[in-house]
Amino acid sequence: MTVDYEQLAQQEVVGYWRAILGTLRQRGMLKERPRQGGCVMPQALAILDQERVYFVLDMLRLAGVPRERWLDRDLWAQWRAALSGRKVVVADGYGLVICVARTPGLPSAKRLPAVIPLELERIPDKPYLVCLGSAKRGPVFLDIASKHRAILTGGTSGSGKSTMLKSIILQLAHKHTPSEFQVAICDLKQVDFRDPFDRLPHLFASIAYNLDDARRLIETVEQERLRRAAVMASAGVADWRRLDEPFPLLLLVVDEAADFAKTAAMETLVEVARKGRAMGISLIVGTQSPTSEVIDHQVRANLVTAIAFQTRTNIESQVILGCKGAESLDREGLALTFLYGRWQKVQTLFVDTDDGDGGELAERVSVPPTPALEQIERDLVEFAIHILDGCFIIGRLAEEFAGKISKRRLTRLAQRWEMRGWLTTPAHATDARKVTDELATLAGVSLPYGWDGQNGDRVIGVTGGGRASEPVTGAGDRDDMEVIG
Ligand SMILES: Nc1ncnc2c1ncn2[C@@H]1O[C@H](COP(=O)(O)OP(=O)(O)OP(=O)(O)O)[C@@H](O)[C@H]1O
Ligand SMILES: [Mg+2]
Repeated sequence: MTVDYEQLAQQEVVGYWRAILGTLRQRGMLKERPRQGGCVMPQALAILDQERVYFVLDMLRLAGVPRERWLDRDLWAQWRAALSGRKVVVADGYGLVICVARTPGLPSAKRLPAVIPLELERIPDKPYLVCLGSAKRGPVFLDIASKHRAILTGGTSGSGKSTMLKSIILQLAHKHTPSEFQVAICDLKQVDFRDPFDRLPHLFASIAYNLDDARRLIETVEQERLRRAAVMASAGVADWRRLDEPFPLLLLVVDEAADFAKTAAMETLVEVARKGRAMGISLIVGTQSPTSEVIDHQVRANLVTAIAFQTRTNIESQVILGCKGAESLDREGLALTFLYGRWQKVQTLFVDTDDGDGGELAERVSVPPTPALEQIERDLVEFAIHILDGCFIIGRLAEEFAGKISKRRLTRLAQRWEMRGWLTTPAHATDARKVTDELATLAGVSLPYGWDGQNGDRVIGVTGGGRASEPVTGAGDRDDMEVIG
């Protein structure tokens, strides 16, 4: 059988054109010709591509229909209805072109599924990008490190806030090592972020379950911001990602903001929101009570991205989104948000950390793997111990192992090993990290004579008088360390 594609295309084009003319006639836009009978018809040249048919109108034969009437959106909508939902627009340039999509449109009443589980394949590859959920147009993503680094979320009890926070944390923990991503969590309800979150190797500090701890944690994050600012100033860079050894992205999650309303902690949160961008500090603040007392003007203005679950009233919706609408969201996990230049209803991803993929993912990210070292890693440790006197000097190692491992990979490796406690944390940014006994053992490197062990632990120096002095890290310059035993 042979198929005459030419003829099929012709039929398709003629079909569309008939529907277009039929609509014009129905709307009374075409003039009758009393003497010849029938109507005056516009004329056009049809062009096809893979996706659309373009009817380039002959501007001298518009059948007396004025230009602005072709541009009337009601007319386009009526054409669309006559063309089985195919999208129709009229482009207005030098002339007028009617563009008709060749695929019929989806029925507009498509409803989002009520439950969309967090599955591994939904997690995007791009660093710090997470999947929020699905909208009618498809998946919706949040860029936690830049565009969406300060988020306000609100909604009634049981609307889905904590579930969304869990999904975001798990996705980031899944694709980033603790040297790339850390999280600080305030969970004053004390139920949502228990196991396995309290085992995450990505925790910046222990999860805060009471008000005092939460205040301290928020303050510690602010101190970290100031520390980072100082490091960046001395390195002469204005963006954390430009550092030779970038900091991990630090995400501060506050599940209920009402506890901090009108306190110093809230002011600190606003500071972090305002100034954390350059230092790689992001935050998400949630609340059950989106009232103007809790979310005052300062908070609202600095948490730029707003995600509203169902609210009790349109006033609450107004506080979060700046407009009403969230009061009519009708189920758990469904959120209203303004992202990428448009309002979207998003069914957020559902995570159950006790079950299914959610449980598996939670288990996987919360248990730090203890990998055997690769050959190249063993060689690096051996070189550091025997040639560099135990110092893990990235520049020297990069030179020695040029072609086998890049400086970038070396840097990341050093950060990861430092996080695990396998390399010491130097007291000064310019000092090198040192290989600990643990790493030497893992690498199976025999220790040289006179190796005095570098365990990276905190050592309390006790003065002769028997009083504890300031803790001194074993990583520091050991000449400063006074251990009297
Ligand atoms: N994205 C979702 N998809 C489907 N169901 C969801 C979703 N999010 C939440 N739910 C359902 O709603 C319940 C409550 O969700 P969640 O604990 O996240 O609410 P919340 O807004 O944090 O409430 P509260 O303010 O009381 O802490 C969940 O146990 C789950 O059954
Ligand atoms: Mg909650």
